Amino acid sequence: MALETPPRSPVPLGRGAVTDLDVHRHLSPTAAVRLLGRWHAGGPAYVALADSVRAAVLAGTLAPHTRLPSERDLALALGVSRTTTAAAYRRLRELGFARSRTGAGTVVVLPRGDRRRPAARTAGGDAPAGGPAVGAPVDLADLSQATSAAPPGLHAAYGRALERLPAYLGGGGYEPYGLAALREAVAARFTERGTPTGPEQVLVTTGAQHAITTLARTLLGTGDRAVVQSPTYYHAMEAMRGAGARLVALPVGDGAAGSAPGFDVDLFESTLRQVSPRLVYLVPDFHNPTGYTLTPDERAGVREAAARHRVTVVGDETLVDLSLDTPADDGGDVAPPLAGDGTSPYVVTVGSASKSFWGGLRVGWVRAHPDLVARLARTRQSADIATAVLEQLAVVELLGDRTAVLAQRRSALRAQRDLVLGLLADASRNGASRCPPAGYPCGPGWARRSRTPSPRRPPPTACSSRRPHLHPRRQRDRPAPPDLLAPAGDLERAVPRLAAAWARVAR
Ligand SMILES: Cc1ncc(COP(=O)(O)O)c(C=O)c1O
Repeated sequence: MALETPPRSPVPLGRGAVTDLDVHRHLSPTAAVRLLGRWHAGGPAYVALADSVRAAVLAGTLAPHTRLPSERDLALALGVSRTTTAAAYRRLRELGFARSRTGAGTVVVLPRGDRRRPAARTAGGDAPAGGPAVGAPVDLADLSQATSAAPPGLHAAYGRALERLPAYLGGGGYEPYGLAALREAVAARFTERGTPTGPEQVLVTTGAQHAITTLARTLLGTGDRAVVQSPTYYHAMEAMRGAGARLVALPVGDGAAGSAPGFDVDLFESTLRQVSPRLVYLVPDFHNPTGYTLTPDERAGVREAAARHRVTVVGDETLVDLSLDTPADDGGDVAPPLAGDGTSPYVVTVGSASKSFWGGLRVGWVRAHPDLVARLARTRQSADIATAVLEQLAVVELLGDRTAVLAQRRSALRAQRDLVLGLLADASRNGASRCPPAGYPCGPGWARRSRTPSPRRPPPTACSSRRPHLHPRRQRDRPAPPDLLAPAGDLERAVPRLAAAWARVAR
């Protein structure tokens, strides 16, 4: 968001410690026009204008403590009457989203609610790192991380891995490519899914995030363009930006009736033609955060376009095992792997044990041409050298037992989803309109109300804590989806609170 340079320290508008009216930055009329975009879709102009500002505050694109342009300047910039801007600001004040003081202007604030301090939380999953602990823990249900507890079979898998460990203790323990046993098990799984793969095409990594970072560091340089779905998984964008790349958005929807297509192959191809990216990052299965899965035809379209434009497409399959209500519920995939018959050197696959089994394992992998695998192994040496041996052995065990472990996992996720849908239906008169197709992520699409979302009434997916931007250009969006995998007790406390909070801010 383009904002004028903030003053060096907050400027209090009144005397004394009137913290609600501290101004941290100013929104210029030009920046306001850009921020609000096409704000008037119908109805009284002052209501639409106020609601558009309110939606920007709720989406996090307009920070609290920002001074809005004067009524007169905003009216001029938007080409509306001053009566409209004055009425819009009045409405914002009435709804608790703005405060004004004569001579000092109108400042955006959040409606007052319970002012309890958030408890500290750990970083991880798809959430940004939490801040340090502040004061005593409070009764906070944190739904910001899409992570869940280990499945029952995990402890036993570690037990069996420990029995295998002595065979490795005679060596140094550093295996930059990964243990042969795990590379073979991962390759065998690809082959079983229809993508013939040899162990030399597999690099074991310390989780999918490490795989993405290693690919970004190896394949991207400063100023290179990388195409990503918009929205997409936040930390992948961070990894690519960290490598110096400029991100190009490929807009995607959730594919539901009345919403944008989940993936538009023609748009994908024209984007490749126009921007000549060095890399494309896609989440083909149960996309984070929309939940959309690319069809077999769309996957073929991606492979063909990648070959025509000679661009590396990274398909992140971290979520592939989490189908809940599909025919593949107790077995294979919902769609063939993005890598198809496995012969294209342009399609690289990232996988992980985190969502299928447990995030704490920190084991992932890359499937790629052996030459690229060798380059990646060199890059990773300066990051982590190699992945822990015991965890790799545990994943070998889990892959061997995957049918049973995944059946338990999916049934736990189904129960969790049904609980949340029930709680949402209780908390909201309109109820949720449809179910998510997968355990992760529970995206904004499925939890929306049956009525069409608008800035005035966005879907009830408010989250209990700070969430990252899911669009490469950080544009305005609905609030990010919360993690719905928290323990049942937390959900039972959190969902009614979220509904009440939403009712307060979106009334
Ligand atoms: C799409 C996607 N990719 C990668 C990751 C990170 O996976 P890992 O825990 O294996 O690093 C996540 C985690 O939420 C994810 O949602």
